[in-house]
Amino acid sequence: MEFSVKSGSPTKQRSACVVVGVFEPRRLSPAAESLDKASGGHLSALLRRGDIEGHIGQTLLLHHVPKALAERILLVGCGKEREVGDKEYQRIISTAVTHLNETGSMECTDYLTELNVKGRDLHWKVRNTVEVTRGALHRTDQLKSQKDDLRRPLRKLTLMVPKRSDLPNGEAAVHEGEAIAEGVMLAKSLSDLPGNICTPSYLAKQARTMAKKYTSLKVSVLEKAQMEKLGMGALLSVSAGSSEAPKFIITEYKGGKTKEKPIVLIGKGITFDTGGISIKPSATMDEMKYDMCGAASVLGALTACAELQLKCNVIGIVPSCENMPSGEATKPGDIVTSMSGQTIEVLNTDAEGRLILCDALTYSERFDPDAVVDVATLTGACIVALGHHASAVMGNHPPLVHELLNAGKTSGDRAWELPLWNEYDEQLKSNFADIPNIGSGRDAGSITAGCFLARFAKKYHWAHLDIAGTAWVSGAKKGATGRPVPLLTQFLIDRCKAKNAGKK
Ligand code: BES
Ligand code: MN
Ligand code: ZN
Repeated sequence: MEFSVKSGSPTKQRSACVVVGVFEPRRLSPAAESLDKASGGHLSALLRRGDIEGHIGQTLLLHHVPKALAERILLVGCGKEREVGDKEYQRIISTAVTHLNETGSMECTDYLTELNVKGRDLHWKVRNTVEVTRGALHRTDQLKSQKDDLRRPLRKLTLMVPKRSDLPNGEAAVHEGEAIAEGVMLAKSLSDLPGNICTPSYLAKQARTMAKKYTSLKVSVLEKAQMEKLGMGALLSVSAGSSEAPKFIITEYKGGKTKEKPIVLIGKGITFDTGGISIKPSATMDEMKYDMCGAASVLGALTACAELQLKCNVIGIVPSCENMPSGEATKPGDIVTSMSGQTIEVLNTDAEGRLILCDALTYSERFDPDAVVDVATLTGACIVALGHHASAVMGNHPPLVHELLNAGKTSGDRAWELPLWNEYDEQLKSNFADIPNIGSGRDAGSITAGCFLARFAKKYHWAHLDIAGTAWVSGAKKGATGRPVPLLTQFLIDRCKAKNAGKK
């Protein structure tokens, strides 16, 4: 899929299809209006006849419009003119793109960039169009033997900007959109793969493939023996029941000065979470193939970073293994020693994410990081607290938490803060070890998980994203969302900008 930006009048576009908006009730957008005038009122006559009302989700494809240079005109319902927000705009674009892809216009010209989206500027609209378009065209038939390929799919979209002087801004927005979309696609496709294909070794291979494509990326993978030597007893206790080899994948992106402190991103890479001996119920257990979405989002964000050639240093760490029951599996009550030296009583083998993350947090110390952000499908409780709309964010440094919250707002990939107060930390008490891997009682499960991680993140600025509710969708439209790649990429873009402006 190819994107470009252009400026000019809708009546002058020689295109397979010009895309314009219709507001409720039956009102033409400015671009539609100019096509209407040129055609001697062809469009307004159709509106009067009631062919399209202007609701979001509606489309009307017109052929042979009088005096039009374009082969087709697509009218797209945009709802009430003053009520277009992020979500409405995304639904409008995705409706349009899906329709174009199925009706033979391989190359289209989009004037929906002229809509007023509440609180958003041209850069956002252009970037978002690219992201939504790539998202709408994403297919999940990688593993189907019969694919119904379209004969004339949408290949090229030209995004119109008001003035020639808007072109550089528009082009930069396309570039950002493409980079983020690329990262999101990678995260989605990896996440949707089943546990028998996407194993820890597969993730390691994937990281190596990325490093072949982008010279700015360097990958190294620690094997089980090296993890033993490092004393990663917590991570290895999760892997103990599985016959898949654990992998500890380190991907370094060097875009900044050699001595500049890196941002470390850690992604939970449990390629399947059965719960272990504390086994999960069978219904919807298949969805635990998604327990590596944190890992996928870190690889996605690094891809976006490399595409954008950001001027900063980023390190992605993916601790990866399976959580399986077996004769060798860790048992409830077992006590293991983490890389930090702290002993952990494993009261529930299903609280495994924090066990692999804590060793990754300790390992991160060696990079002398500017900040560490971990990303994990960590707790079902997070879905109870925030549902599927926001990721949870917690951390030990308020400015870092704010940067992440803001990146979520800018990118539309939202997050919400949960508190890590001492009162919650007090729920973590073990009679036999330094710390249990679950809090006492079910209360505030996402926060006690955060408090557990905080005990291993005392040496640097750290934040934790719980993406249990946002990383994938269940039900008929089951599939990965690619979140929080947009948030993470925005966070890195903003940080880079602030630093290169001399503020950080
Ligand atoms: N991967 C799960 C969390 C999860 C569950 C994410 C459902 C999305 C949907 C995690 O490893 C887990 O099992 N957490 C337990 C923790 C509990 C034992 C303290 C949970 O949330 O039930
Ligand atoms: Mn679990
Ligand atoms: Zn898990």
